[in-house]
Amino acid sequence: MSKKIELFFISSEVSPFSKTGGLADVSYALPKELQKQGINVSIFTPKYAVIDDNKYNLQDVPNSEFQIQIGEKLLEGKLKSLQIEENLKVYFVVNDHYYGRSGLYVDPVSNSDYSDNMERFIFFSRGILEAAKKINLKPHIIHCNDWQTGLIPVYLKTLYSEDPFYNKTKSIYTIHNLAYQGIFDKGEYYKIGLSWEFFSIDGFEFYDRINFMKAGIIFADKITTVSEKYAEEICSSVDYGYGLEGVLKNRKSDLYGILNGVDYTNWSPSRDKYIPKKYNSRDLTKKILNKKELLKRFNLPFDENIPTIGIISRLADQKGFDLIEAAADELMQMPLQLVVLGVGEQKFQNFLERLEAQYPEKVGIYIGFSEELAHLIEAGSDMFLMPSRYEPCGLNQLYSLKYGTVPIVRATGGLDDSIVQFNRDEQSGTGFKFYEYNRDALLNAVKLALEIFKDKTLWKKLMINGMKQDFSWRNSAKKYVKLYKNLIK
Ligand code: ADP
Ligand code: GLC
Repeated sequence: MSKKIELFFISSEVSPFSKTGGLADVSYALPKELQKQGINVSIFTPKYAVIDDNKYNLQDVPNSEFQIQIGEKLLEGKLKSLQIEENLKVYFVVNDHYYGRSGLYVDPVSNSDYSDNMERFIFFSRGILEAAKKINLKPHIIHCNDWQTGLIPVYLKTLYSEDPFYNKTKSIYTIHNLAYQGIFDKGEYYKIGLSWEFFSIDGFEFYDRINFMKAGIIFADKITTVSEKYAEEICSSVDYGYGLEGVLKNRKSDLYGILNGVDYTNWSPSRDKYIPKKYNSRDLTKKILNKKELLKRFNLPFDENIPTIGIISRLADQKGFDLIEAAADELMQMPLQLVVLGVGEQKFQNFLERLEAQYPEKVGIYIGFSEELAHLIEAGSDMFLMPSRYEPCGLNQLYSLKYGTVPIVRATGGLDDSIVQFNRDEQSGTGFKFYEYNRDALLNAVKLALEIFKDKTLWKKLMINGMKQDFSWRNSAKKYVKLYKNLIK
């Protein structure tokens, strides 16, 4: 019998402990499914101030204390842990100076990145490698995610390549979003602890600066990203590759697109603990009660015949708010209501608040982060809008399908891979897609959705088509397991 695979899953956010976006959802749901499929998984994540030790009853991990040299500074850290399942444990990397702050990456007061983010994630990466040695937990594979973990594949092939503890360890690097690369001034290079040899075109160097994601892509044994379409897109143009398209193209034979899945124990209307009325595809009348509750929350009038369009999103360029802004006046002439939950860039926040002030009977905005409201919007909306400029995978369109909340999406990345255009004659498909990134394309998709919405029978068919889709993690996790097995063969 072959030995079980020991996997480290490294992520800078893990739901429900810490979350700014979809990475957190993936970083809990995927390991949970991997564990079911026979992998021993240890998740590693920073112990941020938002994570309450007592609420989760985090345990001290004996002998996990470690020290890391960053430039002149000698820093100390340790691990805390939480056992989730027999073969699934979360390790929290503790250092209050670096992680005991109110934000994850961004200072909520100034709304700008913490100036020592580079150090924070050097400490995280090396800290994990050192602490695991201390507690004698030896991984076959380290699965890294996004720029915050880009150093780990590099360290494995440099500082630790001769270390008997790690010299057989393989790395996988998953790209969730290429727009965030971890780019820093080369004056800080000494902090990484590697010789200048690695500050080259085949290493960290990116337009004379340091790029963590680039290094991760170059040094990892395998690379994945979160949809097949995005895997194609990022190799093909600067619009998607953000300057790394050449690097990715060079590694195309090691790059795999694996679509994210959904944790239906958390995101399905028949079990959702946050929504006022649970429902399923056999009994859609209760969905209306959630809509009533949602509209009440936003002080909007209820009318069964006026569709409510929901949006839950980071307020970032990626998500297409400039298109919504360009289309806003015309959208507001249509028979619809718009409900938006989001937090992020000030310019989009301002736009949304202006829109609400101008059309108080049609628009409801909540600026902030609310897990509970996110679930209510999924349950209470009729349609869900994601006009993204690019979208590596996107989770809310997948959640929306299960809630019978019909997605209207731009056909990019995972949105294109997961949503099928509704075909009126065949009554097939799950949503509405548009291709060009412009306001007319968006408006046409919304108009079509509104037209179909008027036909109650057709609309119900469309809702049920979506609710029947299965995007559970089972299939996608199998693809990761296959990749792991091939790597350590
Ligand atoms: P991204 O990771 O690019 O932000 P995804 O669609 O993959 O986009 O995932 C977004 C996740 O974050 C979803 O779980 C969504 O519900 C959640 N989310 C985004 N903004 C908010 C918010 N303001 N309040 C609550 N949840 C949010
Ligand atoms: C990123 C992407 C999003 C994806 C998520 C989880 O933040 O923007 O499309 O679903 O990561 O992979």
